[in-house]
Amino acid sequence: MYTALVCALLMAGSRAGDAAAWKKRAVYQLLTDRFAKSNGDTSGCNLSNYCGGDFEGVRKNLQYIKDLGFDAIWISPVVDNLDGGYHGYWARNWNQINSHFGNSDSLKQLVETAHSMDIWVMVDVVANHVAPIGNDFGQISPYNSGDHYHSNCDINDWNNQWQVENCRLSGLPDLKQENGWVRQQLKDWIKNLVQTYNFDGIRIDTIPEVPKDFWSEFGQSAGVFQMGECFNGNPAYVGDYQNHVTGLFNYPMYYTIKDTFQSQKSMRGISSRYVEEQGKFKDVDALGLFVDNHDNSRFLNGRNDQRLFKSALAFSLTGKGIPFMYYGSEQGFAGGNDPNNREPIWSNFNKDHDIFKFVQRIMSARKTYNMPSSAFAEKWADDDFYAFTRGNVVVALTNKPDNGVNRNVPNLGINNGMTLCNIFNQGDCQTVQNNNINVQLNNGEVKIYAPRSSADDMAEIAME
Ligand SMILES: *[C@@H]1O[C@H](CO)[C@@H](O)[C@H](O)[C@H]1NC(C)=O
Repeated sequence: MYTALVCALLMAGSRAGDAAAWKKRAVYQLLTDRFAKSNGDTSGCNLSNYCGGDFEGVRKNLQYIKDLGFDAIWISPVVDNLDGGYHGYWARNWNQINSHFGNSDSLKQLVETAHSMDIWVMVDVVANHVAPIGNDFGQISPYNSGDHYHSNCDINDWNNQWQVENCRLSGLPDLKQENGWVRQQLKDWIKNLVQTYNFDGIRIDTIPEVPKDFWSEFGQSAGVFQMGECFNGNPAYVGDYQNHVTGLFNYPMYYTIKDTFQSQKSMRGISSRYVEEQGKFKDVDALGLFVDNHDNSRFLNGRNDQRLFKSALAFSLTGKGIPFMYYGSEQGFAGGNDPNNREPIWSNFNKDHDIFKFVQRIMSARKTYNMPSSAFAEKWADDDFYAFTRGNVVVALTNKPDNGVNRNVPNLGINNGMTLCNIFNQGDCQTVQNNNINVQLNNGEVKIYAPRSSADDMAEIAME
């Protein structure tokens, strides 16, 4: 009985799907239609329509994601969509699976295989709107009547919160969550979806477009971690939503990452952004840290410098928050605005790509040194240099790749005399003295110093 109790407690402590557990994961975002086709076809396609990726294609290629070092995926919305809804945001029949992606069985198998490989699955969901059907509500199931929707107006003033919550986003009919029947349907639907497919978390679309009290109830019905999308750079605006959903994408930091690594503004910006967020969010560690996603032109499109991109990626994979990396980043994809940033990746599963290997090395160190379990602690910020620790690991970044940067990183809180070696070059070691180390960054390189000679790292180096 004692053993059973301990087991129950252990399981409760690490239950799949809660915020504490998600903070230790790293998420690879893919678009189901663009990742892999189960028939192995790798031809190109019209990016504005279905390209043929499916659940079974994702399932067959999970090892690529695992090899890269991620232990969670975020997949596109899974419900039946109006024609052309390759992205999944045009729901038609909420109780059917999108037949372009597969069926109920292939979706279950995807989640099952992922779990067997210790990869969690976060499903994208929409509760704000349905497909662009004008006022022909009969096309939608089960929201088939005008009284399930707000009256027809367009959002044209994003500072008017009433409009944002009650009018149409890009002409998409806006569900009326204050209608008791609609509300209950949405809550029953999410509960059923999560339980039927055994999802570990949900990514929620269009958070500001629905009142906060709805999200509190919706999240409770889901019963798993929620990562909300509030596409806004103001921490004061975004922050309060974390009182209603467990996690949010760190959009304010997304803009700071662009300012810092694309526009090369002072790296102190990262520091002040985190300070600001500390007061505005309930839990900054539960925010999603990202460089790219499907709604924004890719980093390399705005600034075609892989040194800066790698520095930004390194920050997003080790900084304070949950890493979310958009598929194709590891292959140097550089697509512009939607749909050009939604390239198929099926002909580019290249594990020798320089960025693939860079990300893989960081993810391996993240695991070896248990970085998510050690608090993020900023150690130095100036115009050209930013450094922080996670336990005994020191991450050093610059956004001025054309200059050599040399700094002492102080107040490490790591034992004097301990030798730390750069995970990208085991010959590059520093010994902690007077609680600091000296860091020299050449040609925009990233350095991550970690305690020497972890057996795992040495074995990996031997393999290369
Ligand atoms: C691509 O698909 C879109 C949407 O279906 C269509 O409007 C467009 O004509 C297509 N482009 C080409 C070159 O076929």
